[in-house]
Amino acid sequence: MSHTRRFIDLRSDTVTRPTEAMRRAMATADVGDDVFGDDPTVNALEARVASLLKKEAALFVPSGTMGNFLGVACLAETGDEVILERQCHVMNYEVSSVAALHGVQLNALDGDRGVMTAAQIEPHIKVQSLHTPGTRVIGMENTHNRAGGRIYPFDEMKRIKALAERHGIRVHLDGARLCNAHVETNVSLADYAACADTVSMCFSKGLGAPIGSILVSTQDVVTRARRLRKRLGGGMRQTGVLAAAARYALDHHIERMRDDHKNAKRLASFVEQVRGLSILFPVETNIVVARVDEAVFTVDALLAQLKERGVLAVPFGAGRMRMVTHLDVSADDIERAGEALRSLGRA
Ligand SMILES: Cc1ncc(COP(=O)(O)O)c(C=O)c1O
Repeated sequence: MSHTRRFIDLRSDTVTRPTEAMRRAMATADVGDDVFGDDPTVNALEARVASLLKKEAALFVPSGTMGNFLGVACLAETGDEVILERQCHVMNYEVSSVAALHGVQLNALDGDRGVMTAAQIEPHIKVQSLHTPGTRVIGMENTHNRAGGRIYPFDEMKRIKALAERHGIRVHLDGARLCNAHVETNVSLADYAACADTVSMCFSKGLGAPIGSILVSTQDVVTRARRLRKRLGGGMRQTGVLAAAARYALDHHIERMRDDHKNAKRLASFVEQVRGLSILFPVETNIVVARVDEAVFTVDALLAQLKERGVLAVPFGAGRMRMVTHLDVSADDIERAGEALRSLGRA
């Protein structure tokens, strides 16, 4: 979208544009052909994230969707079953990638605000037989997008990992926004990652890089994922320019996410003051989901009115609107968004 006026863009934390300093890091990155394993910046990023998460290896990928696909596809065989929470990103927004391209069966359980418990999962585990697919993978998402950026409780994650181990099952963690959970809870990225066999993490969301995600796991899994990535057309060449942005983001943009969380809480307090709007989920990180009373306005009319007032948000299912705070939204912008919200209904 080309903006003739500056919108306060709360549609997603993916809309950020690289800062000047990030662009400088990209422009001066040492690069090589990554398919030959020659890109020093990519290699350094992969080694750094593997070590940060205390796993053996990592693979830089173009998107979170590819990271999730590779994680699940490396842990499950075609015909296996994957247990997931019904509202998770893999189930809802990845064009059925693991089902369509890898032929796994998804068994979606209803979570409580995005969270399945180990006790809830256990009776659904299937042992492979002549008739049944075997449950091979359990998926978790932290933070949970459709549950309004909810942080997966760490103790529950540990219980799910222990359950999986008892049953010889692997765990994939969609950690697109794992850094948001980490800054809020102070649980280390490595401790979160210990609850999973494969972890995907995005640089292109709250971390503010323009492109890129990473899959982290054992050396063996990452070697297989590298081959599968090539099959999907994800073998890229001088990707050091992108890895440099990711490295910059790791250095400079993790701690500042606390500001986004503060801004999201403030934004939610404004939303609560608008007749016809209410906050659907407690705001824990950078995502605000509002319930829209369609007797007052339809979601489309609400979004149009906000846009007229310089604020962009997205529909988020029937009677819902989502707003996300990020690097390109300041505390002042949130005050202005609050003003726009307060003026709704006024011509
Ligand atoms: C929780 C979660 N996982 C995965 C993804 C996929 O990331 P990408 O858009 O880079 O494919 C997203 C994107 O918003 C997400 O919110």
